[in-house]
Amino acid sequence: MYNAIISGTGRYSPERVLTNADFERMVDTSDEWIVSRTGIRERHVLNGSGGFGNSDMATSAARIALDDAKLAPTDLEAIIIATVTPDYRVPSTATIVQTKLGAGRSAVMDLVAACAGFIYGLSVARAFIVSGMYRNVLVVGVEHLTSITNYEDRNTCVLFGDGAGAVVVSRGADGDNGRGILSTFLSGDGQYKDLLHIPLGGSRDPLTAETVNSPGRFLYMDGREIFKLAVREMADAAERVLADAGMTSDQVDMVIPHQANLRIIDALTKRLQIDPNHVYVNIERYGNTSSASVPIALDEARRTGVVRDGSTILSVAFGGGLTWGAALYRL
Ligand code: ACO
Repeated sequence: MYNAIISGTGRYSPERVLTNADFERMVDTSDEWIVSRTGIRERHVLNGSGGFGNSDMATSAARIALDDAKLAPTDLEAIIIATVTPDYRVPSTATIVQTKLGAGRSAVMDLVAACAGFIYGLSVARAFIVSGMYRNVLVVGVEHLTSITNYEDRNTCVLFGDGAGAVVVSRGADGDNGRGILSTFLSGDGQYKDLLHIPLGGSRDPLTAETVNSPGRFLYMDGREIFKLAVREMADAAERVLADAGMTSDQVDMVIPHQANLRIIDALTKRLQIDPNHVYVNIERYGNTSSASVPIALDEARRTGVVRDGSTILSVAFGGGLTWGAALYRL
């Protein structure tokens, strides 16, 4: 059994920003509604004009994480890309990122777990390292959510942003002083699949000439139902990883949760009885970037000194599937 450590982090956000005022011009909404119901003020979005896409955002974040880890792309033995918005259905975004990075012939795979995708990827990478199979694994959470967003549906369009966050997970060395991924928990429940899904465009219901412009090609979400389940299951997942590591919430330096809704984060904070000053929130500037939200927040928290070497961090996420999970790690 080897120790799995986070050896580097990076992030990428597109330059273009959509503010709540922009949405006031697009749909029947208001800055007041969006801020009070979600906490979001602005989000970074790709132009959507082709060219720079999901794999480019992932590659940009990955390069920064590799530099941070002082590793070359060829040191990577596996690349895991958590995304629901791949460049193509075939091949995987991971194969494209591998080529763009110049990462040789590493194992390559995409992982689909919606907003919980990064936690899933981190857990898989940890298992690869702990088992001794690999020494360095890249995990990227990346989403081009605006490519599957219906800009005529005020229930969803104000929520989502684009971006990428990356970590390198490596085999630890002796004397790591308790660093490492201490515990992970993953779960899901497919009976709730209709609460968040894209009805059309998969192999089951392909787009046809009649449906190609229908709303069914975009993300549908029953936000109210997801909200209730998210708070309950994220709290449970967090408690499980803490118990597994023999720790309590007051020993956590920073909770870095999925950024879907400020009210969900606040409810989680209360349930876990954590001081709000120990919860990292950046949703006001990014919106919900799905699998990218936790690694973007982690990289931002590291680079602004909010967390540092030795900090114990609890990350927890919840998304379509439904899927959810938590990870407890020390930098
Ligand atoms: N502007 C103004 N009014 C709006 C808007 C808007 N942008 N959106 C919805 N409303 C209206 C609704 O139409 C509704 O009006 P009605 O009562 O007349 O029908 C009213 O506001 C309340 O709607 P609710 O859905 O009850 O609003 P709620 O307080 O639940 O907030 C939200 C909605 C923000 C979506 C919230 O439910 C949420 O965040 N849910 C969880 C999202 C989540 O975590 N998703 C999983 C991850 S995403 C992924 O995996 C890709």
